[in-house]
Amino acid sequence: MALYEVTAEPRDPRFYQDPYSVYAQIHANGGVAHWKAYDLTCFAGFNDVDAILKDKRFGRAIEGVKPYAENPDLADFAACEVHSLLCLEGTAHKALRSRINREFIHKYIISLRPNIESLANAAIDKIKRAGGGDLITEYAMPIPAAVIADLIGISRDDVPRLLDWSHAMVKVYTDTQSIDETRAANAAARSFAALIQDEINVRRKRPRQDLLTRLLQNQIDQSPLTDQEIISTAILLLNAGHEATVHATGNAIWAIANSGYDAIEITAPATIENTVEELLRYDPPLHLFKRYCLDDIKWGNLLLQRGQEIGLLLGAAAHDPAENPNPSKFDPYRSKPKHLAFGAGAHFCIGAPLARLEMQISLPMIYRHLPSFKLSQKTSYADSFHFRGLKQLVCQL
Ligand code: HEM
Repeated sequence: MALYEVTAEPRDPRFYQDPYSVYAQIHANGGVAHWKAYDLTCFAGFNDVDAILKDKRFGRAIEGVKPYAENPDLADFAACEVHSLLCLEGTAHKALRSRINREFIHKYIISLRPNIESLANAAIDKIKRAGGGDLITEYAMPIPAAVIADLIGISRDDVPRLLDWSHAMVKVYTDTQSIDETRAANAAARSFAALIQDEINVRRKRPRQDLLTRLLQNQIDQSPLTDQEIISTAILLLNAGHEATVHATGNAIWAIANSGYDAIEITAPATIENTVEELLRYDPPLHLFKRYCLDDIKWGNLLLQRGQEIGLLLGAAAHDPAENPNPSKFDPYRSKPKHLAFGAGAHFCIGAPLARLEMQISLPMIYRHLPSFKLSQKTSYADSFHFRGLKQLVCQL
């Protein structure tokens, strides 16, 4: 049976301003589609996406395929990616992940609360002094970027450079970037790697109390990490650690503004956790991830071939009406909103506890400290379907 055909163009504003109506069509037509622009079989149903993410017959890496290696314009980018957790599977992935995971244990993440609060307070003071500002650049962005830079051990003065490099690099994940964007991403990867290498060299002489030093000290243990592995890990944490959180926070503020709910009430201590989960369900920041089929696989009526890539529509899974009735309604009182914003299975987001904490702290603070801010209605989502986030969110006090 032929699959439902999605003809939407990922870079067409009519699509990326509202991908959810396309998702609704996929759900209405069986939950699986062939997306012409990507030439990809894509899964939208919650149960399919969840099960595939947890199924070891699917992976982010497959033997014989080196990520981005075929593109000479991406040589430096590829060198960073090859040791990234997101490009590893099996025992290599497990070994590196278990080291990084130690840094994200609940007890440690909770201890970051005062730091996050003080960053939020500083951002709020700045907005107050200016009588308003763009909440994406002035509020959503500085908090996660500084938190992750502190954690890794990079100076906050370097954060603006890191953000520029990160923005350039993540364009490659959209698969729709121009040749100039490709080259800019490669140059950013080269500069980023050089900065981390310098930081590693400094710590070799003088260890500090930070993640870079701890990753380096692993080299004295039985199984050393190479500098390139440490560089890839630091870059992944910096990119993953802020980019999605910024968009999630921006999308959250926009959703709350348009919801008709009392922002103070739905971000009160008793409700904030559920509100954040519903926000991550309603308008998540990451929408499409791919997997290789590591075997010939029969999935329902479909025969998937070894080596074939498939698409997993995380944003669509959260809008599956079978799991979340009336999915296009933002309802902070929805009981147990079901979403896959942080993925599932072996690659489940390491930073999920940190991202949740940042949102649970920063959202209530903005409504309490800037109670009468008014958002301009003039905003739109940026041209980047995989990373769903607003261009700006201008407010006046
Ligand atoms: C709202 C914010 C965030 C969202 C929505 C998000 C989402 C995701 C998703 C969907 C994946 C899985 C990708 C896949 O299965 O292919 C992932 C992986 C990852 N995330 Fe996040 N993330 C967020 C914040 C963070 C933060 C704050 C950090 C670190 C400080 C982080 C670090 C990572 C890492 C290292 C991985 C790779 C894990 C692995 O491959 O084993 N993320 N994230």
